[in-house]
Amino acid sequence: MQFRDFWYVVAESRKLKANIILQRSVLGEWLAIFRGDDGKPVALQDRCVHRHSRLSKGKVLQGKVQCPYHGWVYDKSGKVVAVPSEGEDFFDNIKTCQARHGIVYETCESDGYVYVRLASNSSEELQSFNQPFKMPFYQEVGWETMRVINRFHNNVTNCAENFIDIPHTASVHPGVFRNQRRQKLQMTVERCNGSVIAEYRNETNNLGWFTSFLNRQGNAIIHTDSFHMPNITSVEYNLGKNRRIFITSQSVPESDETTLVYTDVTYNYGIWNKLAKPFVWWTAQYIIHQDVEALAIQWEVIQKYGTQFMNTPADTIHVFVESIRHAIAQGNDPRKLPDKSVTVNFWV
Ligand code: FES
Ligand SMILES: [Fe+2]
Repeated sequence: MQFRDFWYVVAESRKLKANIILQRSVLGEWLAIFRGDDGKPVALQDRCVHRHSRLSKGKVLQGKVQCPYHGWVYDKSGKVVAVPSEGEDFFDNIKTCQARHGIVYETCESDGYVYVRLASNSSEELQSFNQPFKMPFYQEVGWETMRVINRFHNNVTNCAENFIDIPHTASVHPGVFRNQRRQKLQMTVERCNGSVIAEYRNETNNLGWFTSFLNRQGNAIIHTDSFHMPNITSVEYNLGKNRRIFITSQSVPESDETTLVYTDVTYNYGIWNKLAKPFVWWTAQYIIHQDVEALAIQWEVIQKYGTQFMNTPADTIHVFVESIRHAIAQGNDPRKLPDKSVTVNFWV
C-alpha cells in the first residue's frame, strides 16, 4: 500500500467546465485536468512528450488539449492525435503515432468533486478504496453544504491532526470556537481498521456563537472526531434534532510541504439552514485562516529542528494518526495494526 493508491480531490466538479484546463499537483506529480469529449474528467501528466512544455498552459477544444509550444494535440486517452509540423504526413506513420502517448491517470467524480488516483493497478487489498470517501449528507434533504478550499504550508499529517485537535482551539481560535474555561473533558480514542475515532464527553456550551445560538436549551453535546486513512478528517457535533454539523476535510498533498485542503461544512439547522449560510461560510473561513497561520509557523520550526514531538494524553489521537500514515509511508497496510482503545482526560 502506498499513498498513490488513494483518490485525491483535484477540483470541484462545477469548476471544471468544458474547454477549461486546470493545473494541479498531487504527491509531487504535475497534472493537467480537463474534460474529454464525453464530458468525463481527464488527468494527464502535465508534460508534453515532445519538448516538455506544460499542457496545462495550453488550450482545450472539444475535449482535446493542445500543447502551447508546438501545438501537438492530445485526446482523452493521452494519445497524440495531431502534430502540426507533420501536417497530413502525421497519419501515414501509424507506429510513430502509437508511440506518442502522454501519461494518463484514473479519474472519477463523486459528491461534486473530481478525484484522481495516481497508481494504475489497484490491488485486491485496496478494493474497499475503489470509491472516494463518501461526504456525509452531501445534498441530502434538510442539509446544506458550504465548501471552502485553503492551502496550508505544512504536510498532510500535521494538517489532519490539526483538524481534530481540541487543545489548540482555545488558544488559536479564542472566542470564535472555544474559550479557555479550565474544564475537564473525557475522550475515548480508538484506532481500528485504518481509522481513528475520538468521542468526547462532558462537553458543554463552549463552542462560540454557533452553539450559544443553536443550543439555547443547553442540550448534551455529542462530539465525535475521526480520521480515515490516508487523508480525511471529520468532526461532528450533534446537539439534537436539526442541530447537527459535520466538518469534513480532505487534505490533498500537493508536495511534501504544501497541502490543499477541501473542507465541507455540512449542517442541518432546520428552519435556519438558508439564513445560516453566510455565517457558516464566514466562520469556517475565519477559523481556517487562523489554522493556516498556526501550521505555517509549525512547519518553519519542523524544517529547522525536525519532529521530535513530546506528547501528552490529549495527543493520543495524533499518535494514532501518525502510526497509520507511517505504515502507508512504509508500504504497509495500516488496517493490520492492532486495534487500540484508550480513555483519557484533559483540560480545555
Ligand atoms: S513541447 Fe509540446 S508540442 Fe512541442
Ligand atoms: Fe483549528
